[in-house]
Amino acid sequence: MNFKVKCSGVTETEGLSTALGSLLKPGDIICLYGEMGTGKTTFVRGVARELGIKERITSPTFTLVKEYYNGRFPLYHLDTYRLAGPQDMNDLGYGEYFYGKGIVLIEWADRITELLPQERLDVKIFFCPPGDEDREFHFLPQGKRYDYVVEELKKRVYFRNRNSYFGNQCSLDGR
Ligand SMILES: Nc1ncnc2c1ncn2[C@@H]1O[C@H](COP(=O)(O)OP(=O)(O)OP(=O)(O)O)[C@@H](O)[C@H]1O
Ligand SMILES: [Mg+2]
Repeated sequence: MNFKVKCSGVTETEGLSTALGSLLKPGDIICLYGEMGTGKTTFVRGVARELGIKERITSPTFTLVKEYYNGRFPLYHLDTYRLAGPQDMNDLGYGEYFYGKGIVLIEWADRITELLPQERLDVKIFFCPPGDEDREFHFLPQGKRYDYVVEELKKRVYFRNRNSYFGNQCSLDGR
C-alpha cells in the first residue's frame, strides 16, 4: 500500500531514509523522483549512514554512478540527471547494478523509466509549502517485496513518531 509522510528539515528526512535503510537488502532498487533540491541526495545519505558508510555522499552527477563498499552491503548511487540518452546507461553496464549484489538508489529515475525493473520502490518527493524545509514523501511500492518494505517502514515511522524521534513537526497522513 502507498504511504505518505511529511518531513521538516534535513534531519527528519535523513531519519526517514535511515529507517528505510534498515529494511533494505542487496538487490533492492529505490527510485527517487522530485524536482531539483527536493532532497533526493539527502535521502540517499540516510540510507548510507544506516549501512555504516563513512564517506560523505555527494551527487554522482558527472559520473552517473558512485559505488560504496565499506558498509554492510554495497550501495550504488545513480544520478541520471545528465544522461544524454539510453546509450549512456548501456555504456555504464546498468544491469550490473540493477541485478547485482548491492542496494541501488537512483536519482531522476523518471529519465530511465523504460530501463527500470518492474519490481522496485518508487519514492516521490515534493516541496510542501509554506515551509521552506517541508517535504512530502510518497512511497509507492511496485511488487510484493516492496509492499512488505513499505508496511514495515510505516510501522517504524509511527513508532518513532510516538517516541518523538521526528518531533511534532512530522505530520503523518498515510493512515
Ligand atoms: N526536509 C528536507 N529534506 C531534504 N532536504 C531539505 C529539507 N529541507 C531543506 N532541505 C534542503 O534542500 C536541499 C536538498 O538538496 P539535495 O541535494 O538533497 O536535493 P536533490 O533532490 O538531490 O537535488 P538535485 O536534483 O540537484 O540532485 C538541501 O540544501 C537541504 O539542506
Ligand atoms: Mg541530488
